[in-house]
Amino acid sequence: MDGKNKIQWAMNWMPVLDNIRKGFISNKPFKDLKISMALHLEAKTAALAYTLKQGGAKVRISGCNPLSTDDEVAASLKDDFGVSVFAKRGLTREEYYEHLEKTIEIEPDIIIDDGGDLTALALKDKRTYKNIKGGNEETTTGVVRLKNMEKAGALKFPMFDVNDALMKHLFDNRYGTGQSTIDGILTATNLVVAGKNVVVGGYGWCGRGIANKMRGLGANVTVTEIDPFKSIEAHMDGFIVKPMEEAIGYADFVITATGVKDIVTPELLKDAKDGVVLANSGHFNNEVAVEDIEKEFGKGKVVRRNVKAYTIGKKKAYVLSDGRLVNLASGQGHPVEIMDLSFSIQALTAKYIAENPPKQVKVYPVPNEIDLEVATIYLKSYGIKLDKLTREQQRYINSWQEGT
Ligand code: ADE
Repeated sequence: MDGKNKIQWAMNWMPVLDNIRKGFISNKPFKDLKISMALHLEAKTAALAYTLKQGGAKVRISGCNPLSTDDEVAASLKDDFGVSVFAKRGLTREEYYEHLEKTIEIEPDIIIDDGGDLTALALKDKRTYKNIKGGNEETTTGVVRLKNMEKAGALKFPMFDVNDALMKHLFDNRYGTGQSTIDGILTATNLVVAGKNVVVGGYGWCGRGIANKMRGLGANVTVTEIDPFKSIEAHMDGFIVKPMEEAIGYADFVITATGVKDIVTPELLKDAKDGVVLANSGHFNNEVAVEDIEKEFGKGKVVRRNVKAYTIGKKKAYVLSDGRLVNLASGQGHPVEIMDLSFSIQALTAKYIAENPPKQVKVYPVPNEIDLEVATIYLKSYGIKLDKLTREQQRYINSWQEGT
């Protein structure tokens, strides 16, 4: 019952996806098509899977991370909404891959992935990818992997880079990750942020969101970066910019959002402040190098749900949700209205693939008209009105003769 309530609650706050679902029910864009999905399986994701099913698809879904499935939602999606589900929270690596295998074995026409594991698995066997007309990738890390596959000649079907759609990354990565990371950290720790030193690893869209929300809660925020331009942006946004080896000594919280491994290593931890809390918001659990930390300092001790303590000499360091993405493993994922946008882009891009299967094997950007359609439905849903250019203004911005 709770799973169904969670899904229905999410659907109530997803007006853009609701609008798209109504169109799918009438037009059945996925009639006779099979869709395999690997996404963080929680309430908003269930709304997307059901929307695709309502559009006529046969849908199979698994999780895309061993710790991010909401079991109540997974059960309800199967029992109440009739989607084939292969997902459970707390899977071993082997079980996680068995679930992905089940999802891909239907020889899908379309795949929807978050992080690239389903895509990489599909590519291992021609039988599983031979029918794929195209697929979508949700996240920054997955897109980096896709581009590496493309460069290496390993990609065998077209994929769309959903992450870089404007209506995805401008809101999901910044406002979504910003808020949900705080949700995860505060749920796991119940600690105060005001007055604390928070170090944010990475100043991409996600890092920007986290740094700004943490500042809003009264933290003193330091940013670490490798990119000269992003580091200047962080500096001008009013954050301290320092290398991690300097920042770790005064950090109360370190939050990683880089997409790169080994941001917090055992070596660095030796210089950390006693009681530092380590949280990762990147896709994989290697930004806080938990395996190496355990090799050096032994298995952590569970001191609270989703919190493990490690003893480093006389000091303690606390790792949240085993270094897995804290916003889903300890929190509820991005806010509903944010996922409404991301999953509306997903739904319309899947429809685009069904109706216009792309010819070339490469990573495609999401067509501009899809971004615009999602933005237009959003503005209408929330009653936000825009100004319109007059004819004279249109003529003016399309001319060059008029100056000072
Ligand atoms: N909920 C479902 N997918 C998500 C994602 N990629 N990030 C945060 N919350 C989510």
